Amino acid sequence: MADPTHFIAGLPKAELHIHIEGSLEPELMFALAERNGVSLPYVNVDALRQAYRFGNLQDFLDLYYQGMSVLLHEQDFYDLAMAYLRRAAAQNVRHAEIFFDPQGHTERGVAFKTVIDGLWRALKDAEREFGITVQLILCFLRHLDEASAQRTLDEALSWRDRFIGVGLDSSEKGHPPSKFQRVFARARELGLKAVAHAGEEGPPDYVREALDLLKVQRIDHGNRALEDAELTARLAREQVPLTVCPLSNLRLCVVSDMKQHPLRRMLQANLVVTLNSDDPAYFGGYVNENYQAVQQALDLTRDDIAILARNGFKAAFLDSAAKQRHLDALDAYLRT
Ligand code: HPA
Ligand code: ZN
Repeated sequence: MADPTHFIAGLPKAELHIHIEGSLEPELMFALAERNGVSLPYVNVDALRQAYRFGNLQDFLDLYYQGMSVLLHEQDFYDLAMAYLRRAAAQNVRHAEIFFDPQGHTERGVAFKTVIDGLWRALKDAEREFGITVQLILCFLRHLDEASAQRTLDEALSWRDRFIGVGLDSSEKGHPPSKFQRVFARARELGLKAVAHAGEEGPPDYVREALDLLKVQRIDHGNRALEDAELTARLAREQVPLTVCPLSNLRLCVVSDMKQHPLRRMLQANLVVTLNSDDPAYFGGYVNENYQAVQQALDLTRDDIAILARNGFKAAFLDSAAKQRHLDALDAYLRT
């Protein structure tokens, strides 16, 4: 590949694993803190960035929830989502499926309506202004109990047409998917799609539970599935997409070095791997930087990169006509 950075930048892409609250850049965090009269325990943006050194998932989550404290009003959620969508569109992301964590806000006294109205207005403006398509996935916080997830789903149903599915995130260890079987069953009965974070820090059995008990259509992360040959073979056989986030894995010490990232092994095992940014403001890059990091570390070819981009559209919750349009655009780009 003559110039991988250029090739990746021009590639039409989907992003399927991005937490909108994790796209809150330090500059916007400080601006919103000032606008809302919220005090942050850092003197400035540089001091905040210095704090972004994580030993594990929980270290990150502590700062992630603290960062959210500046999000209070509808306009804040609008500004947050619009900033992400502007950057995503500039990176040639043609379709994004965005996670949001309503309990991270309702638990602090911010109304669900405030969150969903701000995000929704940004989605519609971004679709019109940037030509990107966007869908929302409501995530339940797994460190909270299932009753709280059920109440969140109840409340969300007033806006049923604004989100396409449910997900499961936050602290993985000690919070297996089995804890959320009933709320996922209800969500599925309502026609919602289902995804779950599994196998980021948790064991392969959590991936199995997400498939068998929550009946998810994609696994978010899924790295540790590779420790289990039988499970890996099943993921390949059933072509269950994995939404992999390399810079996140590096920053959260899920991998010790990008050269050790399991992406190549995932591709060799015929898994439907997609590349995503997870929490780009915290992990040092948006989707293109994730592609670049693995391309370099693992010496990926143009064909490898094309497979990853193709998988993103295949794994999206889009109808087959929309998927085909994206795949055709990708093929046209690859012919240039
Ligand atoms: N894992 C679990 N929960 C999260 C993450 C993640 O990578 N990002 C935001 N919430
Ligand atoms: Zn995530």
